[in-house]
Amino acid sequence: MKRTSYAGLVNETFVGQEVVLKGWVQKRRDLGGLIFIDLRDREGIVQLVFSQEFGADAWAVADKFRNEYVVEVQGVVKNRADREINPKMKTGKVEVEIHNATLLAAAKNPPFYIEDDINVSDELRLEYRYLDLRRPEMQNNLKIRAAISRATHSYFDNNDFIEIETPQLAASSPEGARDYLVPSRVYPGHFYALPQSPQLFKQLLMGAGYDRYYQIARCFRDEDLRGDRQPEFTQIDVETSFLTIPEIQEITEGLLKKVMKDAVNVEIDSIPEITWQESMDRFGTDKPDIRFEMELQDISDVVKDIDFKVFNNAIENGGFVKAIVVPGGADKYSRKDLDKKTQYIERFGAKGMAWIKITEDGFTGPVGKFLKVKEAEISEALGAKKGDLILFAADNFKIVSDTLGYLRNAIGSEMEMIDESKFAFIWVVDWPLFEYDEGIKRWISAHHPFTMPNEEDVHYLNEGEDPHKAHAQSYDIVLNGYELGGGSIRIHTREIQEKMLRALGFTPERAEKAFGYLLKALDMGFPPHGGLAIGLDRFAMLLAKRQNIRDVIAFPKNSKATEPMTKAPSLVSDQQLTDLGLFISPNVEE
Ligand code: AMO
Ligand code: AMP
Repeated sequence: MKRTSYAGLVNETFVGQEVVLKGWVQKRRDLGGLIFIDLRDREGIVQLVFSQEFGADAWAVADKFRNEYVVEVQGVVKNRADREINPKMKTGKVEVEIHNATLLAAAKNPPFYIEDDINVSDELRLEYRYLDLRRPEMQNNLKIRAAISRATHSYFDNNDFIEIETPQLAASSPEGARDYLVPSRVYPGHFYALPQSPQLFKQLLMGAGYDRYYQIARCFRDEDLRGDRQPEFTQIDVETSFLTIPEIQEITEGLLKKVMKDAVNVEIDSIPEITWQESMDRFGTDKPDIRFEMELQDISDVVKDIDFKVFNNAIENGGFVKAIVVPGGADKYSRKDLDKKTQYIERFGAKGMAWIKITEDGFTGPVGKFLKVKEAEISEALGAKKGDLILFAADNFKIVSDTLGYLRNAIGSEMEMIDESKFAFIWVVDWPLFEYDEGIKRWISAHHPFTMPNEEDVHYLNEGEDPHKAHAQSYDIVLNGYELGGGSIRIHTREIQEKMLRALGFTPERAEKAFGYLLKALDMGFPPHGGLAIGLDRFAMLLAKRQNIRDVIAFPKNSKATEPMTKAPSLVSDQQLTDLGLFISPNVEE
């Protein structure tokens, strides 16, 4: 029998019609003479009714149906009696009286119910991912993801962009994250690298004159995983020639508008812009969540002559004392809560967290006695009032920013200051060209080594000058406190690119070996160009209102970068290793 409709789409307009439906048994209730079955498919659930009267054979077959059996049914759509109407169901006004039923496939008892809001471990969900993906919320997530892709293709097609694929087997290059390597069989000892992004290929496409490129590109990075990171992820990757930053932003905003409208039916306003410095000053982070206030405030000047060693030391060492005021936080946070937070922020290098509550008796708390002398001035400067909690960080710029930036987000969420229905985009522009990597103890590109410095800062790359003073022609697009995407105007002359690589510590020989093909191309008539990439998985995660990027990827890796269903990565046969000229060190544990 040919299906006539999805089960989840059957509604009042079908009443009186004969339908053929196929799907999974969500639930079976046997009321003796009547059997009710909720039939589920990708569009939702509809109620089926079986009785001897509607069809004796069908009724007998339905008697054997169990959860997750795959069935085919034929019947007539009827209005439900008024008192049977289920307003919570899309199909709740109707039911289907079945006169024909066939079992297509039986099913074992699933390890968890196929329904939303299940309380089972992520490991189990991933091991039985095909069952997990049957759940309506997961189907909705993947539909949102597909809607983003569809809107993206449509937008770029309508704006004269050319879609071009770039290699997945590429050359390993330094800088950036760690590569995933693929051994070559033909050239033993040689490796391809899976691309971390199509960055240099898309630049070379600008050199090749394609002018407007886009690609929905798979990227691979072997880095520490977090809730918003996967080893394998997808970018909406864009590059254009001859455009300015505002022009690239305008194209991007057009895309974001279309995606928001098509995927979640939300209209967005024009997107505000903030400099990196202002973002750090006000929000303590380069990805500000602007859905709520509670901004960082610098009170170094107000507190500098109070006799309190913690503050005095920070200021004497060229640092800052900054604070956030938690409105109504005095009652909400106990000493124990605040001790926990103090412990947590040690990871940012913070040596402590001074706090005061403003009560009937003014400033209270462990450091109240130090700050009381300037109670009025501090309250006035911070706009704090009775009932508020004030948290202070005193240290260098980075530690103060990281600490209060974290606390602002954590407390904003705990105090329910965030309107979760909002989508707040913001551009963060004018980034430093370099940032210091504490892990490897050297300066690295804040974005990537192909980013153009601000015109007036190019001279900082000259020998004898301090490159770390340079700012870049780069921009990030941030959504609800997440880095959604980032891009820049690129370096398009050999001279500046060579200076840039030198500033990053490359000798001319190493620069030539790693990026010689790019340097050569830059000598061949290369247009000014720039672009950006948006993380499609993150975008889908935020639009689907999920906390973890895994929920919008059909078959993701877990937090240990393994895939519990297929068990990737796995050992391979000795023959495969021999073919590749590889052997596994005996020191490696199985
Ligand atoms: P960048 O490294 O900032 O820029 O990446 C762009 C966007 O990709 C997403 N993203 C990730 N998503 C999930 N898991 C990951 N591990 C991951 N890493 C990055 C983020 C990020 O904003 N070639 C440049 C772009 C350009 O300059 O045009 C690039 O890759 O949403
Ligand atoms: P201490 O003098 O180390 O006992 O600290 C006194 C108070 O100041 C405690 O509440 C600490 O948590 C807090 N404190 C210590 N160092 C800092 C800092 N760098 N910034 C903010 N508060 C701090």
